[in-house]
Amino acid sequence: MGIQIEADVSEVIGAVPRRLFGSFVEHMGRSVHTGIFEPGHSTSDDRGFRGDVLGLVRELGPSVVRYPGGNFVSAYRWEDGVGPVERRPVRLDPAWHSVESNRFGLHEFAAWAEAADVEVMYAVNLGTRGVQEAADVLEYCNHPGGTELSERRRANGADRPFGFRLWCLGNEMDGPWQVGHKTAEEYGRLAAETARLMRMIDPGVELVVAGSSSREMPTFGHWERTVLEHTAALVDHLSLHAYYQEHNGDVSSYLASAAALDGFVRTTAGIIDDVLAKAGLDKKVGISVDEWNVWDQRHWNDVEQHELAAGGWREHPRIIEQDYTVTDAVVVGSLLGSLLRNVDRVTMANQAQLVNVIAPIRAEPGGPAWRQTTFHPFSLVSSLAEGNSLRLTVTGETIHTGLHGRVDVVDAAATFDENGRCAVFLTNRSTESETEVRLRVRGARLTPDGTWTVAVPDGHHRHVTNSVHTAPVRPVPLPGVTAERDPEGTTITATLPPLSWTALRLATVVVRDV
Ligand code: AHR
Repeated sequence: MGIQIEADVSEVIGAVPRRLFGSFVEHMGRSVHTGIFEPGHSTSDDRGFRGDVLGLVRELGPSVVRYPGGNFVSAYRWEDGVGPVERRPVRLDPAWHSVESNRFGLHEFAAWAEAADVEVMYAVNLGTRGVQEAADVLEYCNHPGGTELSERRRANGADRPFGFRLWCLGNEMDGPWQVGHKTAEEYGRLAAETARLMRMIDPGVELVVAGSSSREMPTFGHWERTVLEHTAALVDHLSLHAYYQEHNGDVSSYLASAAALDGFVRTTAGIIDDVLAKAGLDKKVGISVDEWNVWDQRHWNDVEQHELAAGGWREHPRIIEQDYTVTDAVVVGSLLGSLLRNVDRVTMANQAQLVNVIAPIRAEPGGPAWRQTTFHPFSLVSSLAEGNSLRLTVTGETIHTGLHGRVDVVDAAATFDENGRCAVFLTNRSTESETEVRLRVRGARLTPDGTWTVAVPDGHHRHVTNSVHTAPVRPVPLPGVTAERDPEGTTITATLPPLSWTALRLATVVVRDV
């Protein structure tokens, strides 16, 4: 039976923000130390930035990177990470039961971000600290000079302000695991006061207030409403965090995780609209999905937490270095599709995280860096998705899932840009069969210009992973994609392998006047 997809290049959901392809570097495990930063590594420069990792980051193509946490930030003193390295204090990091050397801090991250060509999204500590410290770090970063804090920055080697625009008001403050965890009322008040002062210091900042750390939090909904009642007038984005995993071998539900993300975004958007309307506020508050990924948290709970506790306090222990399977890569591809479908509400998104910690890039201390399976959908979407996200109508075959009900067998998203380039992203959720896709695009005469499929490689099963030694999972061309053009548009046909994620690049031959 297959799937039929209808699109018209003039029917758009919204422009694709570059910030949709963000990532995240936290002082956690080996994300920073022996991840992006490893003095003495054979590829590192004189600042200690690993060249092999930087090369892979550029290939992956993130646009904005959130830093320095995560749970870490809720007990972090930003001042520890500035000034002469030999005078920086070594501290306990309670969030990850680790020792933080502070050899890498604010200036190092700003320089690394410049080298990686990414925007910085900086999170302030609203766990153990508050309004004053948030204002201080903003003044230190963004005020040109002539004050104690800005002159301290200049003395520490950054003559010109960093000019960070994007600021997170704390992290996952709804979670009982968070250092300084608060009720919605407590956090809403604190976030509002912090936002007010930060805007006085630098009116150009964009502020992200913390929403729920998952759709499953018992406070979801109430949290967003209460926090926004305090802050809606003062912030630009509300965050949501979303991690997905396979439960008890239920692969159908896992492959339909994008349906859950769609629902999470739409429900959150409804709450935002309601609060704005009740407050009479004529403004937009975007959704910042500033932590999303696939993450098998069973593994974390069962193994690493106990290992960490047993091992005492250590510097950059290996934490949640999950080896991703081809199935995980397919789910990541479909989650990117969900983000594209929701660009009318999602203003940015950060895959958590970038290196080593549940990451698309892995790096061995003193050894090589390599691409996990999940690297490929991210790098393809970040390089191919441009212009507007198209509104699609999908009809045809569906499958039943235990957690998300009935879903289309193929998850689809597409973009079309001003140069007439079209990109289509398709996930085949059937684990058993190929699925025929017939995609009708009105308003453009298109021709295939590149195809990439991530599927179970021959001779392997759906749990196959890449490793430091081998990379069986990588995109391969999809044979047999055809285009039939007529005066009104194009019909593309493709056959998707079972359990696969595919990107199609289509180039315009002639565009209809619209
Ligand atoms: O990304 C790993 C952790 O997951 C982050 O520190 C935290 O914010 C989330 O719970």
